[in-house]
Formats: sequence, structure tokens, C-alpha cells
Amino acid sequence: MPIKQTEYILALDQGTTGTRAVIFNHNTRRVLTAATALTPIIPQPGWQEQRPTDIWESVQSVIGDALINAGINASDIKAIGIASQRETTIVWNRETGQPIYNAISWASLQSAEIAEQLVADGYAKTIHEKTGLPINPYFSATKIRWILDHVDGAQELAEAGKLAFGTVDSWLVWQLTDGQAHVTDASNAARTMLYNIHTQSWDPKLLDIFNIPASMLPEVHASSEVITKTSPLHFFGNAVPIACLIGDQNAALIGQLGIHPGDIKASYGAGAFLLLNTGDQPISTENLTTTIAYQVGDQTTYALDGAVFNAGSALQWLHTNLDLIENQVDSWHAADASTNHNEIYMVPAFNGLGAPYWNPQARGSVLGLTRSTTKNDFIKATLQSIAYQTADIMNLMNQAAVVKPTELKADGSVSRNPYLMQFQANIANMPVQRAMDEDTTAMGAAFLAGIATGYWHNLADLEEHVLQGRRFEPTIDDQTRTRLLDGWHAAVKTTEIFAE
Ligand code: G3P
Repeated sequence: MPIKQTEYILALDQGTTGTRAVIFNHNTRRVLTAATALTPIIPQPGWQEQRPTDIWESVQSVIGDALINAGINASDIKAIGIASQRETTIVWNRETGQPIYNAISWASLQSAEIAEQLVADGYAKTIHEKTGLPINPYFSATKIRWILDHVDGAQELAEAGKLAFGTVDSWLVWQLTDGQAHVTDASNAARTMLYNIHTQSWDPKLLDIFNIPASMLPEVHASSEVITKTSPLHFFGNAVPIACLIGDQNAALIGQLGIHPGDIKASYGAGAFLLLNTGDQPISTENLTTTIAYQVGDQTTYALDGAVFNAGSALQWLHTNLDLIENQVDSWHAADASTNHNEIYMVPAFNGLGAPYWNPQARGSVLGLTRSTTKNDFIKATLQSIAYQTADIMNLMNQAAVVKPTELKADGSVSRNPYLMQFQANIANMPVQRAMDEDTTAMGAAFLAGIATGYWHNLADLEEHVLQGRRFEPTIDDQTRTRLLDGWHAAVKTTEIFAE
């Protein structure tokens, strides 16, 4: 069927710090982006929450802004794709549609004790074999358990079939369909710690371990599939196909067309998130998670996944808490102006450390201060910490990969920082290829929605359309790299003294 000139794909990119709606045309070019910011709630140090209604309202607002500002009718949207923050957990009442607690963010540590108890009870091996994940409060299952334990009467309601659980994708589709669809996709399901990535189904044994009734769980779909349609009530009178749900980090892999085994990408936002495409094989290696990258039709693509919990958030901290920089550009200039020889190490373990260290108890540390240390040195060390953590993950991925990666595909707002990108190439000893378009996450969701609805033929056909940005080649010798990495690993070690 020929594509009408006036048809577009609408992609939603719902993340921790904001929501974007991006309209794409058939040439895969952005017609318009509408964005709004969200501020997480921090009820206690280490905890992080969001109001589910704020998330939904932010989506409604960017959809309206995007359509109005682009002068496009809702009826001209061929399909919607949704890329959303992963693991973040929402539980709501099916009858009233009301959440019974705030959304518990992926970065929140309030379920840490539940995770520790599971490790103590000896469940690590079973859970890892089934889900590809280490036991950690990062993943949804301990957060669901925490809500059921802490909200009065929640366990009883859950057992009576009255509660629904969802990651943010499920919550948004529930809203967009006016409560008609309770769904998710395989990539989001794989981050819950309840989904068996080998049998590709919710695992009864895991539900048993966490004491979570199966009735709470959404129906799992492919990442690229017409799953349902919007309720006309919520889409300007139109029933538009929702044709992609996918975790935001996984969407960025697609947006960069990292669709071949050995393709590796890092998205530098509040955190930094790496995925290595391992094709149709789930590869397992110590200290990284094995996950479902995406599912198109009945074809599942697996990935090794590594999450750096604090990247852009560490720069944000330099701004809001320490008043050292005004914005990201300042951090780049400060790093360039620093004249020390990289002997300061800053480990931003604000809420523990993620991959490959996996230490929820770790807290931040600074190593190597002298009387001559300057503000610029400290800012540079903070930027470098992002690259060091990323390089440690890349190193493990490289060792495990059957098809070895040859370049790191970089995207996300913090990848705009040329100092960081150059240091990343140096410390990882791998060229960094930055994406031209900052909206790779939205682009990935658009691509998957587009191929599900025949707007585009397949992912491979889109390769010629994706434009590459600047490339950064490694420029330091092995001896320098080893010295720097040794210092970094010594600094990471110092964060362990906070473990009980
Ligand atoms: O795994 C967490 C990740 O999906 C959150 O992404 O960009 O919303 O911070 P972001």
C-alpha cells in the first residue's frame, strides 16, 4: 500500500527526567519535538519516586503540543510507538484506575532489604538463570513486593485480582486506552525479575518466590506489533494503533540501528546505559545482565546490558548541590581548562553502584586531592567517572561477545560533551561514533511502530537514513590507560567501606 504523504509516526520517549513526543516523517526525519521536564520526588536519601499522574499528564501535554505545533491532525498519525523508562514500578487498582502508591523509580533503593533477604535465602542462582538478572533493588519485583508490604490491604487486594502492576509503558497504555489494555512488551518484561527470558513467559516459580499473584501482570507482546488502539477520548477523537512498546535504552539501540550482533551502544542521560547486541543467543557473563533487547514478530534479539546509575545526574549534582557549573557546556570547558594529570578520581555512587560493581551500599568518594586541586579538576574527575564506569562495562562485554564490537555508538544529551566522548574513546580504547540525532530513543520507538504498520518495510531498509555525527578515535598509549584505570579501580574500592 503506498504511503500517504500526510502520514506520520508519533514516538513518545518517557524518561526519568522528562517526556518527549517526536513526530517523524517517512524519510525518518524529525518533524517536531515537544518536551516537558519531570522532577523526581526524593522522600528519603536513596529513595526516588514519581507521581504516576504526573507522568500521564506530561504525556498528554507533549502529545497536544507536538500535534498543534506541527499543525498535524491526530488522524494523520499512522501509529504510536512508546519508549519508556524501564523497571520503574506502578501498582494501581483495576476498578478505580488509581495508583495505590507512587511510581517507584528504577534508581530507588527502598527495596534494598528485600533484595538482601533474597540473596541470604539463596535465590540468586535460580533468579539469575531464569531472568538473566542479579538480585538487586534496581529491578521491578522487589519494588512490587515493597508496595504490597507497605500499603495497607494491598496484598489482599492483589490476591483478589483487583490490582494491576505495570512498568511505565503499561501504565501509559492503560491510560491511552481508557483502561481497556493491560500490556507490556518483552524488553520491559525482561527487566521485572519475574519474566523468564528463555521460555518468554511470566515464571510461576518467580511469582511464588516474590509472592506476587499472576493476575497483577500485564500481557506480554512483541516490541513491534499493533498491540491496541488509543481510546478516541484520549487521542483527539481518533483510535490510532499503538504499535511499539519498548524500554527506552533498548529503543536507543534500535534508533542507532544497532541491529547486528556485536553492535554496542551507550546512551548518556541521567544514567549511562549500555547494550551489546548478542543476536538470537542470550549470553551470560558475570556482573552484567542478560536481557531481551527487542522482539520483532517471533524473532527475539538478546543483549548484554550494563547500567551506570549516575552520569548526567552527577553533572546535575555539580550544578544543584555544589553550584560548580551552570550547565553541561561549563563542565566541558572546565575539563579542558584543568591542568592536572588526571590524578583525581571521583566515584558518584550516590545510590550505590550498578554494573559491573553491583553494590547498593556503596556511597560516593573522592580520591587523590592535593592542596593544588582546583574546581576544574573536580569537575573533570566527575566527567571522567562516567567514562570509567562505561569502560568497565565495555571491557566485560568485549570479553563475552562472540562477535567483537569495533566501535561504541553513543547517544543521549550528555554525549554532546566532546571532552567526555574523547576521554571515553581513550579510556575504552575504542572509537566512539556519536549519533547525529539526539532523539535516537524516540527514533527507535518510531522505527518499530513504523515497521509494525507497514509504514516502513524493515529495520535493515532504514540503515541508509540514519545519519552519523562526530567520531572520536583513541589517542592515548596503553601505559597511560593502565595507570588511569588502576587509579579508578582503587577509587571504586574505597566506596566499599560503606557496605555493612
Ligand atoms: O534502566 C533505567 C532506564 O531505562 C531509565 O532511563 O533515561 O529515563 O533515566 P532514563
